[in-house]
Amino acid sequence: MIEARNLHKVYRDGAVPLPVLKGVSLAIGPGEFVAITGPSGAGKSTLLHLLAGLDLPTEGEVLWEGRALSQMTDRQRAALRNHAIGFVFQFYHLLPELTAWENVMLPGLVRPGSRDGTRRSLKEQALECLRQVGLEGRAAHRPAQLSGGELQRVAIARALINRPRVVFCDEPTGNLDSQTGERVARLLIDLQRRHGISLVLVTHEEPLAQHAVRRLVLRDGQLVQTTDQRQATSDK
Ligand SMILES: Nc1ncnc2c1ncn2[C@@H]1O[C@H](COP(=O)(O)OP(=O)(O)O)[C@@H](O)[C@H]1O
Ligand SMILES: [Mg+2]
Repeated sequence: MIEARNLHKVYRDGAVPLPVLKGVSLAIGPGEFVAITGPSGAGKSTLLHLLAGLDLPTEGEVLWEGRALSQMTDRQRAALRNHAIGFVFQFYHLLPELTAWENVMLPGLVRPGSRDGTRRSLKEQALECLRQVGLEGRAAHRPAQLSGGELQRVAIARALINRPRVVFCDEPTGNLDSQTGERVARLLIDLQRRHGISLVLVTHEEPLAQHAVRRLVLRDGQLVQTTDQRQATSDK
């Protein structure tokens, strides 16, 4: 479904060009759970951004069902992100002035074709997403009134609102204590299985990475290891 071919990324905003990705190729199938690990600074976030079309590679290509992201207009890429992709970040990225409910609705509001007539059902869908992460009772809370784990669950609900095919998570438990992190991780895995969503997850948590069907290790801008854990996971 997603294919990355020979991705290179060089950041040129500093005094010297900074090569971050140095030829990364991979493929992610529908419903697949892939974990990406590797040291800090290895280029994990950069890779996620390229796969999600948030940024373009310096060289190489990302294909979505055979369509090259670089051949799309900014608008087409934005539309693809909006309807097919969910993103969960380490630091939640929720808007502080909006309630949990409104934060979850937001990607639905910018969805093409969403008009006043669909608002009501969008509100209901957002509440349903909050229910799926166990937070319907916090719908009217603002981010400042929520704990770290709750904030991340709101972010997960927001990632689900447009029924994405892929959810990219960038260290989603990195800012949580281990117990809360585990609960959030279990929720992500459960949602991935229940909805058949592809889950591409960057993490430092070894136990979380072990749940993945496939593990990729990124080091210094290159994939140094790919482990298929299918056998291991199906034995559990
Ligand atoms: N937008 C950017 N502009 C310039 N340099 C960047 C940018 N984003 C990341 N970098 C640099 O690229 C390297 C890899 O970053 P990143 O992809 O965030 O790694 P990771 O997520 O594995 O820690 C780091 O050295 C970082 O400083
Ligand atoms: Mg990162």
